[in-house]
Amino acid sequence: MKKIITTVVGIGFLVGAASADVASDQKAFIDHFKSIQPNVEFADYTNGVYAYDAGSRDQFEEILDGIPPYEDAVEKGGLEFVKFGFNKCDALKDPAAARVKHPYFDEATQKVVTLEGVMKACYLKQTGKKLGSKKGKIARMSAWISDQAAGEKVNVKVDTAGAQAAYDEGKAFFYGKRGQFNMSCADCHVYYAGKKARADILSPALGHTTHVPMYRAKWGGMGTLQRRYGGCLKNMRAKPISAQSETMNNLEYFHQAMSNDLEITADRYRK
Ligand code: HEC
Repeated sequence: MKKIITTVVGIGFLVGAASADVASDQKAFIDHFKSIQPNVEFADYTNGVYAYDAGSRDQFEEILDGIPPYEDAVEKGGLEFVKFGFNKCDALKDPAAARVKHPYFDEATQKVVTLEGVMKACYLKQTGKKLGSKKGKIARMSAWISDQAAGEKVNVKVDTAGAQAAYDEGKAFFYGKRGQFNMSCADCHVYYAGKKARADILSPALGHTTHVPMYRAKWGGMGTLQRRYGGCLKNMRAKPISAQSETMNNLEYFHQAMSNDLEITADRYRK
């Protein structure tokens, strides 16, 4: 980690943080990743770090070929989806469509709406109780919902002034330096993707949102995308930010848009 931290100092912006549309931002992303890993196909970016590291790829494939450790949890999520009446909430009635539609920018509230956000609202309506944002039920059910859309493509739309503003905020967060180490998400997951930080190889941000929620061996369970944001913020020694806050939702909006046209996958294992 220390080596990364000292070497990123002085690196200029290869991929800019100024306002631009999704297509040109994503093109800059793809061109950058192509320049550092010319042999990795676009479609392979759903596999995160395993697209970049042959050694851990073998291990990953062995896990997928066996009984992946998340299988029971996802199945349980499907039962919970019905048990808690999610099939009665309009926004979730068609789970595959819900996965593809979110996150989107809602003109009425001028806010980004995430899949987990509508799940929390639905749970409250159906049970009168609050649902967490990071692990347990919400991660299991969200993974099951995403499984229904496996093979479809991420398709985040940014097509109004309000949407663009939320996207720009998420993007500024992604490129902004923060925490005791004065690092940005982009430092590790764009400029240093493929390089080592301690025992980990850093994954490219392209494709980061195709297999969420993910199972992590380190967690011994499932977690939402925003649970992962929390972990990375902590590693950056940055101020914690609540999951499903406007800041995290805008970050997710930008981050998911950068995975547009990649397949949503049910292969949700990560180390
Ligand atoms: C100091 C380096 C570092 C910084 C800065 C950092 N991360 Fe990470 N991140 C990691 C490491 C290490 C992992 C685990 C290996 C991997 O998949 O890259 C990881 C994993 C992830 C994953 C899971 C990837 C997958 O394929 O499942 C996501 C998503 C993520 N980071 C998002 C972020 C976001 C968003 C930020 C900024 C708030 C951020 N990270 C900042 C080091 C970093």
